[in-house]
Amino acid sequence: MDRIPALESLAPELQKGLDQASSFEALEALRIEFLGRKGRLADIMSTLPNLPPEERPKLGQRANVVKEEMNRLFDEKKAALTAAREAASLARFDASLPGRAPWKGSLHPDTLIMEEICSIFGRLGFDIAQGPEVEIDHYNFESLNMPPEHPARDMQDTLYITDSILMRTHTSPVQVRTMLKEKPPLAVVVPGKVYRRDSDLTHTPMFHQVEGLMVGHGITMAHLRGLLTAFVRGVFGPRTEVRFRQSFFPFTEPSAEVDISCFLCGGAGHTDGETCRVCKGTGWVEILGCGMVDPAVFEAVQYPADVSGFAFGLGVERIAMLKYGIGDLRMFFENDLRFLTQFSY
Ligand code: PHE
Repeated sequence: MDRIPALESLAPELQKGLDQASSFEALEALRIEFLGRKGRLADIMSTLPNLPPEERPKLGQRANVVKEEMNRLFDEKKAALTAAREAASLARFDASLPGRAPWKGSLHPDTLIMEEICSIFGRLGFDIAQGPEVEIDHYNFESLNMPPEHPARDMQDTLYITDSILMRTHTSPVQVRTMLKEKPPLAVVVPGKVYRRDSDLTHTPMFHQVEGLMVGHGITMAHLRGLLTAFVRGVFGPRTEVRFRQSFFPFTEPSAEVDISCFLCGGAGHTDGETCRVCKGTGWVEILGCGMVDPAVFEAVQYPADVSGFAFGLGVERIAMLKYGIGDLRMFFENDLRFLTQFSY
């Protein structure tokens, strides 16, 4: 005897089973039944020792051939099932579905406005300067012509850290720091954060300013006016008018507040017969404070008496509110993405 019928029928029976199997679970069940440690092939093999010794090698060889054949049948079926599964999932894949757009960040309106201001003044020849937000009284007040009991200190409710160290209330101390470092002529813009003890609908304890300073020989109010006009036309459009109103700051003399013609009503004071909500009917909106640098400030930085210059300071949030029509100052600081993402460029 060189064949065992039970061994010879294994592969054909397995093939029949595989033909019926339609899942990986069914495939695994068949593998256990035919090729498992206690499966049908193992069963037959366990009878080999009962055979006459001279038959054993031949039958052993035959059993190996059958085992290889069964493994091949399994692999074939497994490949077929895998291919079918992939085809099915591809059939469900809709290549025409829109993709998911990656998250795109946007710049804060304060950042956008500060960048715009710095780039306009950059084209006009100004450098960018910066200074510390924690400042000493001397730079924030004293050298800007506001000695300890000066009433103008009240205009800027101050957050003190110690008697002489404070959170800067404006970007003007950077004027002083710049002049102490550099000799005239110079022209800088200073974007940055400032702090005041103030919090209500129209005031926040931190907000942003941009300071401007130009010093040289023969600098006049006319230069200031020309530059500011170019600047507001850059930000608010070429038809914007500029008006200087007499004002007071301890560190400039003369001083002025600058109004621009209302960009909503064009200066008329009303839109569609209604009082203009931006300028409240006046036709003008205030945007910054400025003036010719006071001689007392030049003296504090030991500049020669024959130089002159101008300075201005503007509120970034105010410019952003006017430019983008933002009605509520608090929106700048709430980090609401519905607000912030409107300012991507
Ligand atoms: N520092 C002033 C303020 O914060 C603004 C200003 C700057 C005015 C420069 C004149 C010149 O109110």
